[in-house]
Amino acid sequence: MSQIKIFDTTLRDGEQSPGVNLNKLEKLEIARQLERFGVDRMEAGFPASSKGDFEAVKAIADTIKNTSVIGLARTIKSDVDIAWDALKGAENPAIHLFLATSPIHMEYKLKKTPEEVIETAVSMVSYAKQKFKEIEWSAEDATRSDWKFLAEIIEKVIDAGATVINLPDTVGYTTPVEYGKLFRYISENVPNIDQVELSCHCHNDLGMAVANSIAAVENGATQVEGTINGIGERAGNAALEEVAVALKIRSDYYPYETGLKLNEIKRTSDIVAKLTGMYVQANKAIIGRNAFAHESGIHQDGVLKNAETYEIITPELVGVTSNTLFLGKHSGRHAFKDKVKEFGVELSEAEVKEAFDQFKKLTDHKKEVTDDDLYTIVMEIKTDS
Ligand code: KIV
Ligand code: ZN
Repeated sequence: MSQIKIFDTTLRDGEQSPGVNLNKLEKLEIARQLERFGVDRMEAGFPASSKGDFEAVKAIADTIKNTSVIGLARTIKSDVDIAWDALKGAENPAIHLFLATSPIHMEYKLKKTPEEVIETAVSMVSYAKQKFKEIEWSAEDATRSDWKFLAEIIEKVIDAGATVINLPDTVGYTTPVEYGKLFRYISENVPNIDQVELSCHCHNDLGMAVANSIAAVENGATQVEGTINGIGERAGNAALEEVAVALKIRSDYYPYETGLKLNEIKRTSDIVAKLTGMYVQANKAIIGRNAFAHESGIHQDGVLKNAETYEIITPELVGVTSNTLFLGKHSGRHAFKDKVKEFGVELSEAEVKEAFDQFKKLTDHKKEVTDDDLYTIVMEIKTDS
């Protein structure tokens, strides 16, 4: 089995979902859970984009020690300098530089010739190298770029010091077969490619982000980028929980594994959904409400006899418990504390008391206090503190 690295960009590309705006505490809360989940790298944000994002990236870089923390930057000196200020406290500061390589982006967005694009990419990777050991360079819109041009620029940015090369399907345009061929082509036509890691980054405009990511892995990618619940620009990014569980469940077919703790999937998904306000659709693969629900009589009958008749994934694998602890007005503080623990949120004794008092008040108005109600109480206290 070869180990595939997981690069989580929930806090950067995921936050680029329309309507999502995470504050520093919310980002930290998600970052802590991503660390528990076991992602190899987390892109904490885009430090030059706003003062708030700078502060959030800095707080994450200073706090998270078991996962590499990365910040996004354009290929301009001030972005690199700001990223360094935000990330220098990290265990292993890393930067993610990107520059578009497709004809349409170079001509209309960048207004640069291909030669100028090479020049900018190389000089900014060299500049960043004076501060950062680890540099990921992304050829934005790689899947609509000329492959020969891609091979040429990649060879040069590797010489300049890039340590990870990413080929993003920025507009979700590619297909599994085509994306696989692109990775094969780059692996075979860039002479110094063995010096770096090769990464895929897929958007879901045609609903193929997960399939495209797995095709890239089958053709040389050693890192998959994506987000929790597949949130992100437009139709979103590759859903990391789907990639990881597909590799696990079809390990008879795919000789790859990730270091993710799959039983943290549900909790991670819940925390991201709550804090971003982007609720997960009921029929979403792996973590949708209906993913382990059986409605028809024939299916129910089959599952009662042997769950594997209609379930290829056990709920336990992804941290979904069938244990529904009913919390109502007769419940005590002990059960309440257990429930808070399940959310993966740490509360001080004073915060537990405050949350418990609010919960008790709510039981006067509601027969059943749901997990959603409790989570809201707990997160409001956390956010205020
Ligand atoms: O989709 C994309 O091209 C990106 C880059 C910044 C890597 O998110
Ligand atoms: Zn993206």
